[in-house]
Amino acid sequence: MAVTVRTNSTRFYLRTILLAASIVSNLLPGAGGPAFAGQAPGTGTVGSVHDMNTFAFVFNDSMGRVCAFCHVPHHANSEAGTLWAKPLDQQASGLRPYTWTAPENLRISQELDPLVGPSRLCMTCHDGAIAIDPHGTKMPAEKTISTDLNITHPIGFSYDEAVTARGSNELADKNEQYATAVTPSETPGVYNQVTREAKIRIVDLLYQGEILTCVSCHDVHNKNNVSPDPGHNYNFLLWAKEENSLICLSCHKK
Ligand code: HEC
Ligand code: HEC
Ligand code: HEC
Ligand code: HEC
Repeated sequence: MAVTVRTNSTRFYLRTILLAASIVSNLLPGAGGPAFAGQAPGTGTVGSVHDMNTFAFVFNDSMGRVCAFCHVPHHANSEAGTLWAKPLDQQASGLRPYTWTAPENLRISQELDPLVGPSRLCMTCHDGAIAIDPHGTKMPAEKTISTDLNITHPIGFSYDEAVTARGSNELADKNEQYATAVTPSETPGVYNQVTREAKIRIVDLLYQGEILTCVSCHDVHNKNNVSPDPGHNYNFLLWAKEENSLICLSCHKK
């Protein structure tokens, strides 16, 4: 169902209803409407937070397609790759409108393009500058990542160079798996024991096996991402849990 009223307050209002409905449907399994049936982590793209047809603020696809907001079988954007359906921000080729720096605590060389690989594709919606749908709907302001990449986790740099600069006492080897549990140590000087039983390794999610991108933390298709522990409720499409900051401990030895 397409929504025709386009004011920000209306969008916010609709979004609030949607959020409330989604919380209710998550709390009461089976009680939610079909629109929210697939929002659970690891259930696939259809019905997930990346199914644009579930959002009242997006013009739903006239044929009910889900992939088409991001990929098309024909006439894709040749510049973007991955059969990308959308334009890239033209200004972004000169790095504008984005600002960013390499990790502040390191002297590692920055890539010429911080949005190298899939990160640029994410930003075709999440920067709030490019429309989500062909009707020009943009990401609600409060939902954007912002075009200031200084205020987001560093991306677009070499994990290998970071490990060389920081040492193996600070960063996990990229052939290690994502963290699934942590057992606090009781012995002074002995680091908490991190269990790594995820199927996926860090290197699998580095662009070309080397560069950290948005995809190093997020599973865009809602397929192999983790579920929260009982009592918690989130789906940020993460490869490791928020609980005990397992997503962070996957790479950082802290
Ligand atoms: C919200 C945007 C979005 C939607 C919706 C989406 N994708 Fe993707 N897809 C991406 C991005 C971004 C990448 C690049 C990820 C990467 O390079 O790691 C990708 C990569 C892919 C790839 C190539 C790499 C891989 O993971 O296998 C395939 C195939 C694919 N998508 C199929 C689909 C299909 C089929 C659908 C619909 C059921 C779909 N996608 C829906 C964003 C999306
Ligand atoms: C076609 C537009 C589009 C593309 C491309 C896209 N997203 Fe999204 N994404 C959305 C929308 C819309 C939402 C739902 C926002 C909301 O919470 O209302 C969303 C939700 C999310 C969420 C969950 C947010 C929350 O608050 O629950 C994450 C995380 C996310 N996207 C990350 C990514 C990453 C990483 C990529 C690239 C690999 C990407 N997205 C590509 C449109 C897109
Ligand atoms: C180092 C890991 C990491 C990287 C890299 C990363 N994110 Fe996230 N992101 C997270 C975590 C963790 C959350 C969950 C919220 C939290 O814990 O604060 C999150 C939350 C989000 C959300 C939900 C709304 C919000 O603003 O919190 C969106 C959308 C999102 N990320 C998109 C992106 C995009 C787009 C990129 C690339 C430009 C990206 N993320 C890169 C870890 C990451
Ligand atoms: C996929 C691996 C990976 C994940 C997951 C990850 N990081 Fe990082 N992070 C890095 C690397 C590599 C660097 C650059 C080297 C360094 O500063 O240690 C970095 C840098 C940082 C920095 C320094 C930022 C700067 O500008 O200097 C902080 C702080 C940080 N990460 C916190 C986090 C937190 C908090 C999480 C969990 C939400 C997280 N990271 C998840 C790999 C990761």
